[in-house]
Amino acid sequence: MKYQISQESFNKTKADITAVLVVDKNLEHRWVLHKDTLKELGYKSESEEVAFLNESKVIYIGISSLEYDELRNAAALIYKNVSKTKAKSLKIGSYLCKCDKLSIQALIEGFELGSYKFDKYKSEKNKSSLKKVIISLEEYNEKKINKEKANLGLKYAQIIANATNYAKDIVNTIPNDYTPLSFEKDANELAKEHKNVTCKVYDEKFLEKEKMQAFLAVNRASPIPPRLIHLCYKPENAKKKIVFVGKGLTYDSGGLSLKPADYMLTMKADKSGGAAALGIFKAASELEFPFEIHAIIGATENMIGGNAYKPDDVLIARNGKSIEVRNTDAEGRLVLADCLDFAQDLKPDFIFDLATLTGACVVAVGEFTSGVMGHSDELRAKFEKAAKKSGELTSNLYFNKHLKKLIKSQIADVSNTSSSRYGGAITAGLFLDTFIREENKNKWLHLDIAGPAFIEKEWGYNQHGASGAGVRMCVYFLNELAKEI
Ligand code: BES
Ligand code: ZN
Ligand code: ZN
Repeated sequence: MKYQISQESFNKTKADITAVLVVDKNLEHRWVLHKDTLKELGYKSESEEVAFLNESKVIYIGISSLEYDELRNAAALIYKNVSKTKAKSLKIGSYLCKCDKLSIQALIEGFELGSYKFDKYKSEKNKSSLKKVIISLEEYNEKKINKEKANLGLKYAQIIANATNYAKDIVNTIPNDYTPLSFEKDANELAKEHKNVTCKVYDEKFLEKEKMQAFLAVNRASPIPPRLIHLCYKPENAKKKIVFVGKGLTYDSGGLSLKPADYMLTMKADKSGGAAALGIFKAASELEFPFEIHAIIGATENMIGGNAYKPDDVLIARNGKSIEVRNTDAEGRLVLADCLDFAQDLKPDFIFDLATLTGACVVAVGEFTSGVMGHSDELRAKFEKAAKKSGELTSNLYFNKHLKKLIKSQIADVSNTSSSRYGGAITAGLFLDTFIREENKNKWLHLDIAGPAFIEKEWGYNQHGASGAGVRMCVYFLNELAKEI
């Protein structure tokens, strides 16, 4: 889609379709030219209520208030309705929430995220005629919007939404087509296409040498070798070092603790953390944040076979700790244990891991929300504030010492499963905590994206399938951090 920021008044701007947001049911606004018709149609201008007046070529969308995510949602709804017509262009006014850059950014993110389509496996690809969105800088409340800031918002929106859609493509691709070797290929391509980026990819021999037995065990029954991927973006005068570690399970069958058929379906999405790490890295390097950014992905399948690792095994992780395997379906934490240890050798200022780690997190906070865990109240609060601006939903899950006792093992240093059926998202987080060094406890956050990573029934601006969960909230966090320095 092409975007044009125009200084022309809303009425003078020309386009095939006009889009008007009805804010808080205010049909008296100067842009609402069809008040009587709308009333006749019984249009109540509730949030997300759409009225498409085909003859006048105007679309009205209700939003409850001027908030960033309301704009994203409305833009996606506009796209959804207009893309069914033959219209080539669309115009919309500006809606100022708080910051001018972010308001334009949110609107365009909504169009870009809302127009994502995954049709790789469809023989017929339906292309929409809509090619251009013109945003008039005339503002809903007649406030002034700075043109440079609006253009910056456009740039950010395109980079961030594009990186999110990039992560969606990875996750949506089927496990036969997207293997650990595909992660390697994509990471190498990112390095080739971006300035100041280097990529190192490690194979099973390196993992052996590094004594990453937890990671290797998960890979054992897969015919495809594992990959540890390490991307680094290093601008001049980097102010901080931030590492994103992603769970890249290109398929999770559960291993010998095999998943029931219903639960195995969608497990191509168990690579969502890895895909998000790539997406975050792509956006961060394109936005040229003043930070050294690392993305580390543990990529493997979790399969079954005669050589599979077993419930009852004891594995020695890279940091020397022994892990009792009580369930081979709790594999993500094994891969992450070794990747987190590897990542800490980089001596980061912040370390985030992203993973579709537990079904328990989905039970705890619902399918729309990511669980955020970590020791530092300050870091969590900062992160959640940035996430809120991004439109991604998060919920904090607190650690406590009683839950920590549930992952004690009788025969090893730690067990990969909890002895209780309750609190599984947090006990998984606490398992990872075992591998976070003392000096890094307050620098680390664990993001369990199991709920929102893959969407079975569309909601908001998310279509069926992958949502790119994690990308926007982390990039928004980096942006907030960049403002601090
Ligand atoms: N990849 C799954 C978690 C998951 C479940 C992600 C649903 C997305 C949607 C993970 O590897 C897993 O299987 N976890 C187990 C842990 C249990 C065996 C302790 C789970 O959540 O059931
Ligand atoms: Zn699993
Ligand atoms: Zn998994």
